[in-house]
Amino acid sequence: MIVRDADRRDLARVAALHADRIAEGFLPRLGRPFLERLYRRVLLRPDAFVIVAADDDRTVGFVAVAADLGALYRSFVVRDGAVAGLRAAPRILASLKRVLETLRYPASERDLPDAEILAVAVEASAAGRGVGRALVDAATARMEALGVRAVKVVTAADNVPALGLYRSCGFTTRARVEVHGGTPSEVLVWTAS
Ligand SMILES: CC(C)(COP(=O)(O)OP(=O)(O)OC[C@H]1O[C@@H](n2cnc3c(N)ncnc32)[C@H](O)[C@@H]1OP(=O)(O)O)[C@@H](O)C(=O)NCCC(=O)NCCS
Repeated sequence: MIVRDADRRDLARVAALHADRIAEGFLPRLGRPFLERLYRRVLLRPDAFVIVAADDDRTVGFVAVAADLGALYRSFVVRDGAVAGLRAAPRILASLKRVLETLRYPASERDLPDAEILAVAVEASAAGRGVGRALVDAATARMEALGVRAVKVVTAADNVPALGLYRSCGFTTRARVEVHGGTPSEVLVWTAS
């Protein structure tokens, strides 16, 4: 397995993995073109990145991280909003409550880090073989190299594989919140040693 930085050629596959594997939050509701544009914006930012895992040239997983998720979303709305919005407008309206919940997510309230894992997903046929762990470890190592000392992630409290993955990578639960319309979620934090 190879773990490497994603580039523009990976965007369609990353969006497909996100849409197929992640049901949590508002992003999957917005469709693949929207996701592809969002991840394109991630690649264009100096403080955010996508890392992919490939098995024999097939991309089987990805992780996306932003040093400041709020700044990423704001620049996405300003720079890509018109194009993404035209395509996804009806779904955005239907998801507006969730969008606002995510944008309003109170990072400062609990003294949580700005850096956040936006998403991680591994193809079902490749799950349970250490791919997710390799991706998240690569992401935290990259953040540390960028001078970021702590990273958070929000995941549904009943997402057992995700909680297992994050704990195995050194994350610990810092808070329990209801960010996604009443669904209990856990906020886990990794801190550089
Ligand atoms: C969460 C996910 C990325 C894990 O990827 P993976 O490649 O299967 O995980 P790994 O094989 O690297 O396992 C990493 C750790 O998680 C644990 N884990 C993985 N799947 C698990 C499961 N179903 N139940 C309990 N623990 C699990 C493993 O035991 C391992 O711990 P260890 O290193 O202490 O042995 C994968 O299940 C997935 O894509 N899920 C759907 C998308 C999702 O929910 N993403 C998170 C929210 S954004």
